[in-house]
Amino acid sequence: MLRRVRVQISRVLFFIRNMRATGKMNEIAPCRYQEYYIAGLEANQFDEMYELYQTISGGQTLGYWHRKLIKLRGNKLCGIIMDKNRRILGFQLHHFKKRELPKGILYVEYGCLLPEVRGKSLSTALRKYTAKHFLLQGIKGLSAHTHKENYPALNAAKSIGYAITDEKPNAKGYLTLYLDLRKFCDLVNT
Ligand SMILES: CC(C)(COP(=O)(O)OP(=O)(O)OC[C@H]1O[C@@H](n2cnc3c(N)ncnc32)[C@H](O)[C@@H]1OP(=O)(O)O)[C@@H](O)C(=O)NCCC(=O)NCCS
Repeated sequence: MLRRVRVQISRVLFFIRNMRATGKMNEIAPCRYQEYYIAGLEANQFDEMYELYQTISGGQTLGYWHRKLIKLRGNKLCGIIMDKNRRILGFQLHHFKKRELPKGILYVEYGCLLPEVRGKSLSTALRKYTAKHFLLQGIKGLSAHTHKENYPALNAAKSIGYAITDEKPNAKGYLTLYLDLRKFCDLVNT
């Protein structure tokens, strides 16, 4: 019982922390990439993005406060890539973790693309665009966790400069990755 109350409190605090931290951030500005569009997720696109998340992640779900956060702040925390008909092809979802927020680090919760559009560098384009955007918002780095055998995700992350920093505690086979945004932007601007 006590444990359930603690879990509920931590979820509400997660929501408050992320609402506060994103209050003054700018939304991810829309842009064109080849014949695709990159933008922040609007509230009316939440159901489409969530369906994609559940399909690709094998039925994972997000809790009530997490869904509420994305509906309210998806335009700042979730970068999407769309086709010319504005169908969502993939996304990168982020949030601030309690211990990382004071260090200016944003956590990449999940990123994916529809299988039929993989291998066209669209995930790379979305990651680069959102990484530059977050640097301009004052974020210092991006952290992520990936399974060591998820080669597409691991290679896609490494290809834009993420470094493996550790093994994820209490999660066998998962690695902790970190992208220093200042170094990343120096690199892409040279
Ligand atoms: C991870 C994911 C978004 C990558 O998408 P993608 O279309 O392959 O991305 P890109 O085309 O931009 O490829 C970027 C790099 O990823 C690597 N990569 C892509 N597919 C790969 C594969 N099947 N095996 C190994 N590396 C691969 C390549 O190094 C590529 O770099 P290159 O273009 O210089 O060769 C996609 O595979 C996906 O949606 N996977 C399922 C969801 C998932 O596991 N998400 C991660 C959760 S932590």
